[in-house]
Amino acid sequence: MSTLPHIPDSPQVIQWLDIGTLQDIPIRGARRVKLQHRTIAVFRTATDEVFAVEDKCPHSGGPLSQGIVHDDCVTCPLHNWVISLRDGCAQGEDSGCTQRFPVRLCNQRLHLGLQLPEEQIDSQGKTTDLHRQRSVVRATGD
Ligand code: FES
Repeated sequence: MSTLPHIPDSPQVIQWLDIGTLQDIPIRGARRVKLQHRTIAVFRTATDEVFAVEDKCPHSGGPLSQGIVHDDCVTCPLHNWVISLRDGCAQGEDSGCTQRFPVRLCNQRLHLGLQLPEEQIDSQGKTTDLHRQRSVVRATGD
């Protein structure tokens, strides 16, 4: 049974995009959803929580989807900043946030909430390939 964070529907959400099932995301890993102007990283934690943030570290734009997921955070692969998946913000001495996006579970399907008109899916009206990040490594023991 999956546990998703409670994120109330926002009036800013104008479109819910079906991004597959929980099982499509590796445990303590991520998959990427490519939109027209940005890429969203959708993470699954060890406890089956799902979070979505822009795949862009607030430090220097590193690909968070390739980072190490631990608890409800991801460590950026470039310079090891730790980003909370709950609010998208850097932890500790570091500062800055990446945008987070709502995710909901509906009939066993994960839906990603898109908030801006420009966040269109590609020109075909579909998501581009959703890459699995199989190599995301475990940072914490179970
Ligand atoms: S780009 Fe992420 S820590 Fe530097």
